[in-house]
Amino acid sequence: MTMTSLGLPAIRRDAGDPAAEMPRSGPLIDTFGRVATDLRVSLTDRCNLRCTYCMPAEGMDWLPGDELLTHDELTRLLTLAVTRLGIDSVRFTGGEPLLYRRLEDLVAEVTALRPRPEIALTTNGLGLARRAQALADAGVDRVNVSLDSLDAAHFAAITRRDRLNDVLDGLSAATAAGLGPVKVNAVLDPVTGLSDAVELLDYCLRYGYQLRIIEQMPLDAEHLWRRDATLGADDIVTALAAHFELRTDPAPRGSAPAQLWRVNGGPATVGIIASVSHAFCAACDRTRLTADGQIRNCLFAADETDLRGLLRGGADDDALELVWRAAMWRKAAGHGINDPGFVQPQRSMSAIGG
Ligand code: 5AD
Ligand code: SF4
Repeated sequence: MTMTSLGLPAIRRDAGDPAAEMPRSGPLIDTFGRVATDLRVSLTDRCNLRCTYCMPAEGMDWLPGDELLTHDELTRLLTLAVTRLGIDSVRFTGGEPLLYRRLEDLVAEVTALRPRPEIALTTNGLGLARRAQALADAGVDRVNVSLDSLDAAHFAAITRRDRLNDVLDGLSAATAAGLGPVKVNAVLDPVTGLSDAVELLDYCLRYGYQLRIIEQMPLDAEHLWRRDATLGADDIVTALAAHFELRTDPAPRGSAPAQLWRVNGGPATVGIIASVSHAFCAACDRTRLTADGQIRNCLFAADETDLRGLLRGGADDDALELVWRAAMWRKAAGHGINDPGFVQPQRSMSAIGG
C-alpha cells in the first residue's frame, strides 16, 4: 500500500530577497507561496496528563503567569488574525485547553468575529463531559480528543494517570452536544500500539468517531524520541489491513495532514498522520500562537517571533500585523526531521500546541 507524499513545496517564488516582496495585505503567505489560514492557539502549557511522549513524569516548569497572554491580549490577536490575516479556522490547544478557565468566553468572542472562523478544540478529554454542551453553545464546531489506548493499563502507562473512563465519557458527551463527527487522535506506543490501534478503530467505528493515528514526532520534553522506536505509517496501515478492509480515500486531501483510508467499504475513514515518514509540509496551511504570545511558523521552527513584548510595548495593529506576516514569510520549506542536521525544537509539544 502506498501513501501520497507531500514532502516539500516545489516552487520557491523569490529565493533571492524574501523580505523585499512580502505582501503587506491579503493572505498570510510565505516565500514558497503557501497560505496560512489555520491558526493553532496554545492557551496554556499546563496539562493534567503526563503522556510519556510529551512530558516527564514530574511535569514541567510551567510558564510564569505574567508571561501568559491575558484574555484581552488573546482576543486582540485573534481579532487581528481573523480580520486582517485571512485566518478562517482557529484551533485551541494546550497543554490542555480545558484548563483555560475562560475558554467558553473566548470561543464566544471568536464566534462573533466576521468572517466567522471555524472553531475547533484539541483536548485530552478530561472534564469534557461536563463542558461539552457549554462549549458547543459558545460556538465550538469540532473537537479532537486524544486517546492512545482503550486498555486501562496501557492508557495509564502512557498517560501516567488512571483516567481512561473520563476520556470515554468526554467523547460521548461531545457527540451528544453536537460536536461531531468527533475525531480521536492516537499516538501509538511502540510496544502495544499496533493492537491498541486495532481496538481503537473497532471502537471508533462502533461509536461514529473518526480515528486519526499520528506518528510520534520528536517533540518530547526529554528529547528521548528515536526514529527506530516509533511506529511508522506503513506498519500501522499493514496492521490495520489485517483486520479491516482499507482503501485509499478518493476525496482530494487538500491541506489535511491525515491520509485517509475508507474502512470496510463504508463511509467511515481512518486517517494516518505521517508527519515523519511522509511529511506534508508542501501543503501546510498553519500558523501558531503560543500561550506566551510567540508566533511559530512551524511546529519544528528553531525560532519564534515575540508578539507579547510588542503588544505590551504599545504596538498598534498595523505593527503587529506586519511582524506576524514577516514571521510567516520566512517559513522554511520543511520541518527537516529527516535531515542529518535536524535539531529538535527547544520547546516540547505541550508548550507549542499541537
Ligand atoms: N508526537 C506526535 N503527536 C503528539 N502529540 C503530543 N505529543 C506528540 C508527539 N511527540 C499529540 C497529542 C495530541 C495532539 C495535540 O498532539 O496526542 O493529540
Ligand atoms: Fe497533556 Fe497532550 Fe502532552 Fe498528553 S500529549 S501530556 S494530553 S499536552
